[in-house]
Amino acid sequence: MRRKIVAGNWKMNKTFQEADELINEIIDGLDEANQKNINVVICPPFTYIELCTDYAQESEYSVGAQNVSNNDSGAYTGEVSAKMLHSMGVEYCIIGHSERRKYFKETDHELTQKAELLLKNDILPIFCCGELLPDREASKHFDVVKQQLGNALFGLDPLDFAKLIIAYEPVWAIGTGITATPDQAQEMHAYIRALISDKYGKEIAKNTSILYGGSCNAQNAKELFANADVDGGLIGGACLKATDFLKIIDSF
Ligand code: 13P
Repeated sequence: MRRKIVAGNWKMNKTFQEADELINEIIDGLDEANQKNINVVICPPFTYIELCTDYAQESEYSVGAQNVSNNDSGAYTGEVSAKMLHSMGVEYCIIGHSERRKYFKETDHELTQKAELLLKNDILPIFCCGELLPDREASKHFDVVKQQLGNALFGLDPLDFAKLIIAYEPVWAIGTGITATPDQAQEMHAYIRALISDKYGKEIAKNTSILYGGSCNAQNAKELFANADVDGGLIGGACLKATDFLKIIDSF
């Protein structure tokens, strides 16, 4: 079912003490806020997952991971598997973030493997896609997103695909303070929904949540979320301050 989702990607930020403080401030705000059926997802670094899943038992948010291994288990030093995440109470996992594509050279094939392993372990993948600035300047942004989705996801069977969440994150908007305009976001989200419809049919397309990410903040979230095909946000910098993150949740 199509859900409104606001997910906070903490990236590689916060010490344990700071993470404890932030999650408690968010919890206090969530307790007060009328949540209007919005799914709030907190994606801390692996090291703070247990902290966040412990508190989540008494609060109204879910926990997501920022990455997962593309292998099932075994001798992969430093990796964390989908099965491990599931055993910690993790319900979502970001895959294909542009930072992982760029710095860790994640490939489409690895993303397919990650999506499959997550789904096998009852974790919902949040699949990131989005073009670089030169792609947009050359009017190739639709082609890039089409390829990213097609290559990594369109081999999944419909029942699996139906569980995915898509996050459109134009790379030029991430951490830059330059947000896609509401029209640019809506245009791409509608395009993504049309691609899903062509591949998997209208019903699955209608029910897929498509989030926007890239300099989404307390000031611009309302305008972005007001669009018909924008079902929420994947928030970076602005989720590191509880008051800003809570305002974004309240923007629906
Ligand atoms: P910013 O909100 O800092 O631009 O980051 C967005 C993002 O990458 C979320 O995954």
